[in-house]
Amino acid sequence: MSDAHNSNAAGCGSGAPKEVPLGDAPKEVPLGDNCACKPQAQQARQACAARSPFDDTDYGTPLRHADVDVTLEIDGQSVTVPAGTSVMRAAVEAGVNVPKLCATDSLEPFGSCRLCLVEIEGTRGYPASCTTPVEAGMKVHTQTDRLQSLRRNVMELYISDHPLDCLTCPANGDCELQDMAGVTGLREVRYGFDGANHLKDPKDESNPYFAYDPSKCIVCNRCVRACEETQGTFALTIAGRGFESRVVASENQPFMESECVSCGACVAACPTATLQEKSIVMLGQAEHSVVTTCAYCGVGCSLKAEMKGNQVVRMVPDRNGQANEGHACVKGRFAWGYATHKDRIARPMIRAKITDPWREVSWEEALNHAASEFRRIQAKYGRDSIGGITSSRCTNEETYLVQKLVRAAFGNNNVDTCARVCHSPTGYGLKTTLGESAGTQTFASVDKADVIMVIGANPTDGHPVFASRLKRRVREGAKLIVIDPRRIDIVDTPHVKASYHLQLRPGTNVAIVNALAHVIVAEGLLDEAFIAERCDTRAFEQWRAFVALPENAPEATADITGVPANQVRAAARIYATGGNPTGTSRGRAAIYYGLGVTEHAQGSTMVMGIANLAMATGNIGREGVGVNPLRGQNNVQGSCDMGSFPHELPGYRHISDATTRALFEDAWHVTLQPEPGLRIPNMFDAALDGSFKGLYCQGEDIVQSDPNTHHVSAALSSMECIVVQDIFLNETAKYAHVLLPGSSFLEKDGTFTNAERRISRVRKVMPPIPGYADWEVTMMLARALGYEMNYAHPSEIMDEIARLTPTFHGVSYAKLDQRGSIQWPCNENAPDGTPTMHVDTFVRGKGKFVITKFVASAEKVTRKFPLILTTGRILSQYNVGAQTRRTENSRWHDEDQLEIHPHDADERGIRTDDWVGIESRAGQTVLRAKVTERMQPGVVYTTFHFPESGANVITTESSDWATNCPEYKVTAVQVTPVEQPSQWQQDYSRFNTEQLDLLRQRELTNATSGK
Ligand code: SF4
Ligand code: SF4
Ligand code: SF4
Ligand code: FES
Repeated sequence: MSDAHNSNAAGCGSGAPKEVPLGDAPKEVPLGDNCACKPQAQQARQACAARSPFDDTDYGTPLRHADVDVTLEIDGQSVTVPAGTSVMRAAVEAGVNVPKLCATDSLEPFGSCRLCLVEIEGTRGYPASCTTPVEAGMKVHTQTDRLQSLRRNVMELYISDHPLDCLTCPANGDCELQDMAGVTGLREVRYGFDGANHLKDPKDESNPYFAYDPSKCIVCNRCVRACEETQGTFALTIAGRGFESRVVASENQPFMESECVSCGACVAACPTATLQEKSIVMLGQAEHSVVTTCAYCGVGCSLKAEMKGNQVVRMVPDRNGQANEGHACVKGRFAWGYATHKDRIARPMIRAKITDPWREVSWEEALNHAASEFRRIQAKYGRDSIGGITSSRCTNEETYLVQKLVRAAFGNNNVDTCARVCHSPTGYGLKTTLGESAGTQTFASVDKADVIMVIGANPTDGHPVFASRLKRRVREGAKLIVIDPRRIDIVDTPHVKASYHLQLRPGTNVAIVNALAHVIVAEGLLDEAFIAERCDTRAFEQWRAFVALPENAPEATADITGVPANQVRAAARIYATGGNPTGTSRGRAAIYYGLGVTEHAQGSTMVMGIANLAMATGNIGREGVGVNPLRGQNNVQGSCDMGSFPHELPGYRHISDATTRALFEDAWHVTLQPEPGLRIPNMFDAALDGSFKGLYCQGEDIVQSDPNTHHVSAALSSMECIVVQDIFLNETAKYAHVLLPGSSFLEKDGTFTNAERRISRVRKVMPPIPGYADWEVTMMLARALGYEMNYAHPSEIMDEIARLTPTFHGVSYAKLDQRGSIQWPCNENAPDGTPTMHVDTFVRGKGKFVITKFVASAEKVTRKFPLILTTGRILSQYNVGAQTRRTENSRWHDEDQLEIHPHDADERGIRTDDWVGIESRAGQTVLRAKVTERMQPGVVYTTFHFPESGANVITTESSDWATNCPEYKVTAVQVTPVEQPSQWQQDYSRFNTEQLDLLRQRELTNATSGK
């Protein structure tokens, strides 16, 4: 093997040049004033968020920002770029493509391939354009004969150790090496192919989604840099030197056994077929692509669905995605196969009783049956005896229609959403203190934070793409404070360490936030000027007097929280000063929080406590600061915005407000009820009381996801008509009388709103499997109920939302298509949307401090139940698992386990993989144990992704005082070794088998009747 090739792995070179395909001439990219990137050229910077939403140009190196511009000449053309820009990028901006292999604009330049060499007048040699910064007056030549010859030589060396199987290679037509061979005019390889080579190196096919074929590797290091800079996992290295250089995962392990989290960043970065999606190997290259939005978590990554006809062949992160900037995680990137899984429900079905087999019927019959049942129930039990549940997985337009159907066609306000069980306290707490029920920042804002406080969230598992961004900021030097009962990944990894981990006992959040506030007040760390100008000073004075009480001192709360006072004091100081305790100016401190804050009896109190902290320290209203809820599901923000709560019309306007009601009454031609309707838990209670008999549940699995499963299933069993609209026979559908097949995010148009308030387009890439998208089904159900709804396209629904909702007045599909996405409020005052909220004034006027007295959870440990169970999620699975369980993601996590500290395990004679019974006052279930020091003694943890685990059999009906959000995070339990499944699990197994049989009988009927 040649020295030249060997040197590629070793580092920067001067070398041979090459040029970029002519067809790829770059478009001009508006890199405007609103660019979110940092002014300094930081390492590990991803492509700038402000690029045009349709610009796919690879500029070779990342955008730089500088106060000074530099003008130079490239191939006779003058170009002006910010100082610090590479010659390569300047050339692309001038319309000149320089050949490259190791450079790409999402990664810092590395300078190893030596293909991008240029000549610079007055400079000796041939510098690499990717690593050479521009200088004023430079005269650069990119296309001389000498450069062409050098570049050809480099390519010759690469190709001499590369399989010549282009025609059968899965990357054929999408391979930068192939492109470069063409661009450099390579016609022969003088070295032959007989020397030492890597052509027989074995493939690693361990990962279910991508393969590693080292015979095709050119050791350009892009994968290693992507894993470090983009993902922040550091799973890859180049092992060996010179000719022996090879990419290896962790300790030279198969990818599946390494630290790799299967985000796919390395695959996206690889310029050859070395790292390649298996779906491309199976299905071939795509014919066209459609930009859409991930349907999993609240990060809302923009993805490009690469298609062959109606078949997805690959889902790639959109380089221009404003929430993700070209990154994704194992769920959005790879776990889309569920959409065409054989378990999909494709036809409407009805049955009289849940012990009857399903009967497939026409849409007309199913909808007429549902409508007549709802009307029959209302006639018998009253107008308020039915209700609906909207889904945080469906689009804004779909949730809007469901709440409209309930209010206008059912004639009541019995509508609620799954946000009830996750972020309803966020809505209440932020509305009360700041005036708007939403987070305050963009994700990009974290790039400017000096201190990041993560409370009750596990971003590497729950919000992976944001976690990558957060970790990058910590690697750049930001201080990290983690408040969590578990030692989650970001507390201590090889490249990210929290400055403080306040490992509190579950249920003591409010005591901690009060202790932090106490330190800030007692040690004079308040931002008095901000408070005086921006906040309600009377409420502030009351709050100050409250938090100053001795009972809130960290020394007093230590016994409650289990967190030593000195740690609380230190964390409070760095949060309040932004990590600059001795400086004259404060740094910027941001809070990110998750369900570990909201899913408590004092969830709303804690959200207000967080807002108090931010206001008290002036950490609100600019970049790098703020109060940021990390939303669990893709459209939790949107479903709340769309009026899914029983007391609020779209835009969080109270149903009792006559003016708002009149607006909707006028538009919908109905009279609306002024009283709030039933929340989900109230619906269950009313069902058991006999006054609530019918439910329309769209895209939500209340049986698996809501607490106290016994209670939920008893309530559903007592109803007379349950209409479930879902893509699978989920746990709730097993109690249903009408099953309306749902459509996946790939089968419909619409919008999702992520945790940044960012509204992004969901675009249909294939026809709906059942024939109709969910919004069309709701519309048809409304008509069957005698209420006319007429929309030809979801854009018309959005137009109605915009007309009726002040924060959405400026939103339209045309604007979304033009801008890529919009963060609400978007209206006359903010026609381009609002990246940062509460800039000059709070939405409510003056920020309102609220007294947050700690009240211990009623859920207390006792001799009978001496441990606290807390629940959460894991990277590879999503929520109730209905989607991810039907993908290869289950290879990482195929059952829920109980994490337990070694001390508690030893006491009970429990070892990893033992079956253990977990019993609470609500019920009992059995899981496999995992003994781990991530847990603190006295606390156990499980996920809730598998229905047979029955995690919610043991959670109780205890809930947030303001919103009824369940207290999932605190359940007193006992854990004991057991030999067999719990009674509930045995009953569930029987019920599940019966229900699947009833579904199968429907299929047999079809087969027999030849349908
Ligand atoms: S898939 Fe992601 S985590 Fe795994 S090696 Fe590639 S970049 Fe790293
Ligand atoms: S695997 Fe791909 S990206 Fe990584 S070094 Fe090899 S060719 Fe480059
Ligand atoms: S699950 Fe979340 S982080 Fe992962 S790709 Fe989807 S939106 Fe992005
Ligand atoms: S050395 Fe510049 S692109 Fe590889």
